[in-house]
Amino acid sequence: MQATIDDLKASRRRLVRAQDEERQRIERNLHDGAQQQLIALAVQVALLADSAEDPGEVRQITGQLRSGLHAALDNLRALARGIYPPLLADQGLGPALQAQAGKAPLPVLVEADGIGRYPRDAEAAAYFCILEALQNVAKYAQASLATIALSCPDSHLQFTITDDGAGFDTTTARRGTGVQGMADRLAAVGGTFQIRSQPGLGTTVTGRLPVPEPGGTGGGGRGGSGRRPGPRPQRASRESGSP
Ligand SMILES: Nc1ncnc2c1ncn2[C@@H]1O[C@H](COP(=O)(O)OP(=O)(O)OP(=O)(O)O)[C@@H](O)[C@H]1O
Ligand SMILES: [Mg+2]
Repeated sequence: MQATIDDLKASRRRLVRAQDEERQRIERNLHDGAQQQLIALAVQVALLADSAEDPGEVRQITGQLRSGLHAALDNLRALARGIYPPLLADQGLGPALQAQAGKAPLPVLVEADGIGRYPRDAEAAAYFCILEALQNVAKYAQASLATIALSCPDSHLQFTITDDGAGFDTTTARRGTGVQGMADRLAAVGGTFQIRSQPGLGTTVTGRLPVPEPGGTGGGGRGGSGRRPGPRPQRASRESGSP
């Protein structure tokens, strides 16, 4: 019992630290990017007011204002893209994972038939865990194939990432921030996480987290801002990626 409480405290500390670091990164980007651009635009607006008598100068400053505004918008859009993957937000797990699978250095099969939309927290937890597992496959497994399989039995979103690579001894392997991060992410949304592996026999990473009943009536998920009504099954079951 005490061990569980200590684990929970440690995982909460790690989450808070990660959130603080992320907040600082966003703050820095806003400070150095959009904030500077907006200050420059404010200066130009003041110049515009001063040169109201001179149409040529008004035209010139207006042009500068327009391109300055476009640049600030591009900057904000790029920052927003870095915070949350747009394909995941727009189309959900199947297409977002399919796109990532296509970038992997080995063939990756995505099986996501029947997977719809879930609360944003749930989709993000699954997505980032799967990406980390996929990165580990690329880094360590020397596999010829990886498979990402998603299903949604009894109000739970479940995923497995399987590879046919080198495997490893889970009792002695060093736990890096990757595996710890996956476990923390899933614990934070009430889910569970497991790695099964043996040298020579590949690796299977499994995650399971509660999500609302299809139709949005059930409980279990953490709600979240991105909750959408009912499932919209997505077809995303094909092999992709080049060796
Ligand atoms: N699919 C896999 N195949 C073989 N070994 C793996 C696989 N996944 C994880 N491992 C082993 O588990 C260890 C821990 O993984 P973890 O993701 O926590 O750390 P890391 O990838 O080494 O570092 P980090 O993720 O912090 O950059 C790895 O160092 C590796 O030895
Ligand atoms: Mg890793």
